[in-house]
Amino acid sequence: MTTTFEPTAGTGVPSADDLLAGFPFPFPEDRYRYSTNVEPARTTVTTAAGRWGAAVVDIDSEYRAELDRRAMILAADPTRHAVLPHMVPAAWDAMLTLMRELDATHPDQMQLRTTGTDTWSWRNEILGIEQHFRYGDPASLPEEPLRYITSQVQEDIALLDQRNDQLYVDAGVVTFAADWSFGFDVGMSFLEIHGPVPRIRKEGVITRAHEFLKRLQPHQPYRRTNWTLTIDRRLDVSTEIYHEWGPDREAIQRVPDDEFGRRVHLRVEVQHLIRLPDSGAVMFLIRTYMLPLDQLATVEPWRRRAADVLSELPADMADYKGIIKFRERAAEWLRAWTPASTATAGP
Ligand code: HEM
Repeated sequence: MTTTFEPTAGTGVPSADDLLAGFPFPFPEDRYRYSTNVEPARTTVTTAAGRWGAAVVDIDSEYRAELDRRAMILAADPTRHAVLPHMVPAAWDAMLTLMRELDATHPDQMQLRTTGTDTWSWRNEILGIEQHFRYGDPASLPEEPLRYITSQVQEDIALLDQRNDQLYVDAGVVTFAADWSFGFDVGMSFLEIHGPVPRIRKEGVITRAHEFLKRLQPHQPYRRTNWTLTIDRRLDVSTEIYHEWGPDREAIQRVPDDEFGRRVHLRVEVQHLIRLPDSGAVMFLIRTYMLPLDQLATVEPWRRRAADVLSELPADMADYKGIIKFRERAAEWLRAWTPASTATAGP
């Protein structure tokens, strides 16, 4: 049974300043190379502007806007959501695991309570939702469990089945893919999916990651980051709508400097890797953060470091990321920035 109520005023969602303070700046060094960069989750990272990483599921001031955007994308394109029949138990497992996580880290706004054998009550005060459900009973939820929980977290979710010593992406709700297609990849193995990425096969990065993921234990979540550049604050840059955003990569080369700094964003994904306790599936959470260069530049160590990484990045990696045509300008833009440039460029 679903009850909706008026969301509480002042839900505790932080102001837009949180987007800078909570930004997971991804460059620990002046040069970037692919690596099996996994570390235990729930460890706070202090940055030059603030901190990130305390929780597996992160809620910020974009919460409602991003969930609205996801709902629109799903309504327009059903292929962003798939649960192959053998993944139904994993979808329930993912939903309950995320509700537990939200209850533990945002107890004022999210509450999960057991009400009997396999029956639960879920309350999301930000969205004004109260839901009673029976674990495993689809009739007790308004929609399929994976889709239900992705309408309440900013993270995209992929679920991987482990069989015959391999991992397969057999379920997910992915609306904010960075230049790949969930609908195309669903059913593919972890190794096949990483086929297009340069270097990583030869350097053993992906086979090491595969071995690591196959040994992942419940209740020991890990995380990693990945990054690229995106024009505008556009979450959905998936392959199926390339015609909508691809031309911006050309056009951005000709815009004036102030527009360039406003529109080019460093896009960072914080990806969590979690072994689900009941089904044994691996849950892959992708949380996307974006910061325009003109805000990034206001944090001096980030300005210098991002410029160095962008200009040093080998051409094959820059090409694969789709940034080869404007990464050098982005580096120069960052190097030339002074506090006065933002002051005169206006809001
Ligand atoms: C791309 C590594 C886990 C799906 C990539 C890239 C790297 C990488 C280095 C290239 C990114 C870029 O240059 O922007 C890893 C590592 C992982 C991991 C080390 C685990 C430790 C996963 C999982 C999935 C996944 C669990 C499941 C969906 C993808 C996809 C791409 C990608 C769809 C884009 C591929 C394309 O171009 O079509 N990954 N990854 N990754 N990864 Fe992973």
